Amino acid sequence: MIKPDAVSNGHTGKIIDKIISSGFKIVAMKYTRLSEETAGRFYDIHRQRPFFKDLVDFMSSGPIVAAVLEKDNAIEDFRKLIGATDPQKAEPGTIRNLFAKSIEANAIHGSDSNENAIIEANFFFNQFERF
Ligand code: GTP
Ligand code: MG
Repeated sequence: MIKPDAVSNGHTGKIIDKIISSGFKIVAMKYTRLSEETAGRFYDIHRQRPFFKDLVDFMSSGPIVAAVLEKDNAIEDFRKLIGATDPQKAEPGTIRNLFAKSIEANAIHGSDSNENAIIEANFFFNQFERF
């Protein structure tokens, strides 16, 4: 998911270009906006964290781009491509290093496991039920 900061700052095209040129195939894509309720459900795992309210406010603050990507070793390779959660710690050339401003407004989300990738794909795209 390209997060609201990156979409509103005009980085969508450059980020998609980087994803494709890194060998990922886009199999679904959607421009949409999360409500507070849907953002809370998406990040349900962080509900008890002190930053949860800020995270939900931020994630529902503007449009996002959701996508399902395909590649061998996709989870690990995509986490490498996006870089560390805190952009100050993200390797040079990673998406967060290039486009993120802060640990909260960090430009992009990537699934952290195959299981969560299926859940998150279904969150946005019903046809991925049988993955
Ligand atoms: P995602 O790909 O978005 O899931 O990020 P991540 O897997 O690199 O990090 P994590 O799942 O631990 O945290 C989810 C999101 O919560 C992060 O991307 C940040 O936007 C936000 N977040 C994480 N830690 C902090 C924090 O300490 N403060 C604030 N304000 N936000 C945080
Ligand atoms: Mg995460």
